[in-house]
Amino acid sequence: MTTAACAPTNHFELAARAMRHPLRESADPATLLQEIVRCATLAPNGHNAQPWMFELSPDQICIRPDFSRRTPIADPDDHHIWVSLGCATENLVIAAAALGKHADIEVGPHNIQVTFHRGPSAPSPLVEAIFQRQCTRADFDGQPLSNDVLKDLQRAADRGGVRLLFLTERTRIEGVIEYVTRANSAQMRDQAFISELKHWIRFDDHQAVSTGDGLATRSSGNPTSPPWIGGPFFNLFFREKSENDRYATQLRSSAAVAVFVGARSDPASWYEVGRAYEHFALTATALGIRTAFVNQPIEAPAVRSPFSRWLGIGSQRPDLVVRLGRGPQLPYSLRRPIAAVIG
Ligand SMILES: Cc1cc2nc3c(=O)[nH]c(=O)nc-3n(C[C@H](O)[C@H](O)[C@H](O)COP(=O)(O)O)c2cc1C
Repeated sequence: MTTAACAPTNHFELAARAMRHPLRESADPATLLQEIVRCATLAPNGHNAQPWMFELSPDQICIRPDFSRRTPIADPDDHHIWVSLGCATENLVIAAAALGKHADIEVGPHNIQVTFHRGPSAPSPLVEAIFQRQCTRADFDGQPLSNDVLKDLQRAADRGGVRLLFLTERTRIEGVIEYVTRANSAQMRDQAFISELKHWIRFDDHQAVSTGDGLATRSSGNPTSPPWIGGPFFNLFFREKSENDRYATQLRSSAAVAVFVGARSDPASWYEVGRAYEHFALTATALGIRTAFVNQPIEAPAVRSPFSRWLGIGSQRPDLVVRLGRGPQLPYSLRRPIAAVIG
């Protein structure tokens, strides 16, 4: 079991821990809004590109997509950006309520407008989970989850017209492995996909801390090395078969796979998927359950439709594929400073 997050030993872990400190109340309204934004930025987001900007005014926060942080190969229609904005909004709403700011939300084609009105503070166990949640790319313990837990998670995701399909039978999980393998193979053979992925990898702590974004190898449970060693090493050893085997092992160690399906296939529905997913992930975290995405079958264009048919959802688009179970905590991924996302 990795214990690095419990006992920080390096600059990376200290930076991660600093970002994860609990919600701070403040009498100063501007500090309070920044604190709420900090919670929003701890949300999951594709490639940890953090594709968001926040505009603050006394009783409002406007959340905008930052299209300069697109990942056009993995996410050509910005689906993941809108899901990520939904995740960030969910954190923001929960943190704000705990500080006595209740949110009315308007989702427009270009932004999400959050208007606050004052009310009694509404602390929730999910507030703490905002600081503890992570995408855990580790093997889980292979044990099933109880029906009560699965029901709690199903309820958590039941919002915004989003449907959650749970696959718990081993034969169904083996089916998911087949689609993940097919899709992952397609992505690994696509040089543009690999280049985009490599662009977002942070090979050592220095690179991770100095950018504050991207996929830190440490957070994936991998060893770190300076980029001039890590880059060529990645080119040599990041191979289709070993990656497929790794995903198969991770899926076999999981208690279940959850597939999120939005009401429609448009940005407003993808945003709702993000909110439902984040409520689900925070609830799982509060219950001691870890989650990690295995989105290859919804990203690889040739695999998405056969995967939908196999799921039995016809022509509907599956939006997220997530494995869950109990497992170790890995080092947290980083975020950019708040000043970089306010504008
Ligand atoms: C829409 C979306 C798609 C994602 N796709 C993947 C994925 O395919 N594989 C993966 O390992 N992580 C995926 N992630 C997880 C992000 O990489 C992760 O949230 C980010 O690195 C920040 O780490 P954290 O969630 O642990 O804070 C995705 C997250 C979102 C919101």
